[in-house]
Amino acid sequence: MVPLLCGVIVGAYILIYYNFIRGKQCKSDASLKGKTVIVTGANIGIGRMTALDMARRGARVILACRVKETGEAAAYDIRNLSGNNQVLFMKLDLASLDSVRSFCKAFLSAEPRLDILINNAGYHGAGKTEEGYNKVFGVNHLGHFLLTCLLLDRLKQSTPSRIVVLASYAHNWGNIDFNKISSPAESISDTLQSYSDSKLCNILFARELANRLQGTGVTCYSVHPGIVYTSIGRNMPSWIKALVITFGWLFLRTSRDGAQTSIYCAVQEGIEMYSGRYFDNCQVREVQPQARDDAVAKKLWEASERMTGLAS
Ligand SMILES: NC(=O)c1ccc[n+]([C@@H]2O[C@H](COP(=O)([O-])OP(=O)(O)OC[C@H]3O[C@@H](n4cnc5c(N)ncnc54)[C@H](OP(=O)(O)O)[C@@H]3O)[C@@H](O)[C@H]2O)c1
Ligand SMILES: *[C@@H]1O[C@H](CO)[C@@H](O)[C@H](O)[C@H]1NC(C)=O
Repeated sequence: MVPLLCGVIVGAYILIYYNFIRGKQCKSDASLKGKTVIVTGANIGIGRMTALDMARRGARVILACRVKETGEAAAYDIRNLSGNNQVLFMKLDLASLDSVRSFCKAFLSAEPRLDILINNAGYHGAGKTEEGYNKVFGVNHLGHFLLTCLLLDRLKQSTPSRIVVLASYAHNWGNIDFNKISSPAESISDTLQSYSDSKLCNILFARELANRLQGTGVTCYSVHPGIVYTSIGRNMPSWIKALVITFGWLFLRTSRDGAQTSIYCAVQEGIEMYSGRYFDNCQVREVQPQARDDAVAKKLWEASERMTGLAS
């Protein structure tokens, strides 16, 4: 009786694992020799596994990270694991628009090309950016908005080139209220709302960017990586963290598997016609009306230009 029950449980888990947890793998074997890739937040989690894959394909990979020590350690590990020595750390703190500007200045003066930009870094928690904006909105959307705008000419000079924006299924709970989108959150439920809102911003940003990039040879895609066992919940209440530590390794996707849709959007041949769309499980997906509202996307772009000082 007991062995039978164990067999059924193990069998059920294997079925669930291969059908729901692991997710689809990117099958493209595209080489990235001679290409340059930036991955933000590449010291850990999904970004780290994405950067490792890009390095294994032969790309020159810039790990754009907040902390020098962990960024350099990741660059060392990725060089070692991939056997590719063209992997380097460059300092980028997305919670500071000055840091974004200095990163871009350093990158543009050192690197002649940019083929793939992966806006992967993400933050959930309290606090403000250096400019006083809601930190979740600032890191997840506004910092990446400025980063992308400042690097756009280099992407246009390196076509065909791509931009991948890490969004989330959580965008479904998001909404955009221009009166308070950038105001700091007060409570944990506010930070969760800000997170969903920022992920909706990511999807609308990719849509509007794709519209503006039509005909340039630069395409962009937003991505839901799956529910992945990473440290994105580090500022969650401790009972949630305890649950994730206890069961996460069983029921959540690994970072390696969570990186597959980002990798797919970065390298898969023939997806250019889907520029501006949202991908999940290495497939283009329909989104709810609020995530394809082009009027709001345009308004968000203009508001972001004002907040980053790009609009005069
Ligand atoms: N995990 C999931 O289930 C899931 C689901 C949907 C979407 N996503 C998205 O996937 C992306 C990657 O997240 P993850 O799950 O891999 O989380 P993670 O392991 O916590 O990695 C987050 C990365 O973002 C970086 N970051 C945070 N604040 C930053 C800042 N101010 N400047 C520069 N970098 C900063 C972190 O750097 P430090 O380590 O230095 O703080 C870290 O490298 C995020 O955009 C997240 O929203 C994740
Ligand atoms: C990676 O590191 C190990 C030891 O830490 C070393 O033996 C190996 O040669 C390194 N591989 C590369 C490609 O540098």
